[in-house]
Amino acid sequence: MASQAQSQATPFELLGGHPTIERIVERFYDLMEEDPAYAELRALHAPDLTPMRRSLALFLAAWCGGPRDWFDENPGKCMMSAHKGIAINRQVAEQWADAMGRAIADCGPDDQKLGAEMAEMLSRMARSMGR
Ligand code: HEM
Repeated sequence: MASQAQSQATPFELLGGHPTIERIVERFYDLMEEDPAYAELRALHAPDLTPMRRSLALFLAAWCGGPRDWFDENPGKCMMSAHKGIAINRQVAEQWADAMGRAIADCGPDDQKLGAEMAEMLSRMARSMGR
């Protein structure tokens, strides 16, 4: 039976906190930079991905119920406004979902079921953004 502490833990805590999320995000952008399958997705981003490596990690930490630094640093910003003016078609949305799925499979939490659930949620979110 799950302990009370475990049942009250946030996804952020269950995933292993910042270290796990940072690992996933590093892998995600490494894949985006290295794999030509993501060339179109890469081209939408700024030449230097360093700011995004920090930003996406902080966003995902908050999204998983962890510290809300990203929202504190970006008052009033949301997923919609963060992507305003970015042409996201189905192909690049699929590339985002695919790269994130691979990053989680490669560097995700020890709990593979939790990792698969996280990948599924993010993949759905990304695909819903493709037009
Ligand atoms: C559907 C495909 C997606 C594409 C093509 C895409 C593309 C982009 C691009 C080009 C930027 C600006 C980056 C830069 O200036 O270098 C951006 C910002 C951002 N993206 Fe995405 N994105 C996608 C999905 C997502 C998803 C699913 C999430 C979160 C779960 C996400 C989180 C963010 C965040 C947090 C920022 C802004 C960071 C900031 O300004 O602090 N994106 N995205």
